[in-house]
Amino acid sequence: MQIAVLYGTETGNAEMLAEDIGAHLGDHEVTVCNLSDFDPTGFDPAVLYLIVTSTYGEGELPASAQPFGNAMEAAAPDLTGVHFAVFGMGDSAYPETFNYGGKRLEEMMKNAGAVMLGERVTHDASGDDLADDLAFPWAEAVVAIAEPALAA
Ligand SMILES: Cc1cc2nc3c(=O)[nH]c(=O)nc-3n(C[C@H](O)[C@H](O)[C@H](O)COP(=O)(O)O)c2cc1C
Repeated sequence: MQIAVLYGTETGNAEMLAEDIGAHLGDHEVTVCNLSDFDPTGFDPAVLYLIVTSTYGEGELPASAQPFGNAMEAAAPDLTGVHFAVFGMGDSAYPETFNYGGKRLEEMMKNAGAVMLGERVTHDASGDDLADDLAFPWAEAVVAIAEPALAA
């Protein structure tokens, strides 16, 4: 299966996790890409998109995902037929805006017509779980759900 792990980060956690997920899914044809380098008009229905993003400011997208967010608004691409899943990274020390980065990207993708597979994960930097420990089973489960539609 073709899989693109897209990450939005400010201080590197989401990038490290995206690289780990990419390595973990090594049996597939995986690319790992910063959202800052991804053009929203380039989504491909043949590819499964795993989106990993942190949250900054007051519930904003992290710096590397902001151009993507702006481009999604400007280009308003029709993402019918595109499948994605979201892994959010946040900190419950910010209870009002906990994991809003992932929430925002989920909403943007759905509003554009893309289909989300599985549930959005909300990693908590103040919690006990290592991001990899949540992300690997999540990624495996999403790939299994996507298999019937996207297996190549
Ligand atoms: C200045 C600052 C603001 C943050 N704001 C939020 C927030 O509003 N909501 C949230 O859930 N996490 C927030 N976080 C936590 C980060 O999203 C979390 O630490 C994440 O793991 C960082 O990942 P990154 O290194 O990929 O950017 C904030 C962290 C910092 C340093």
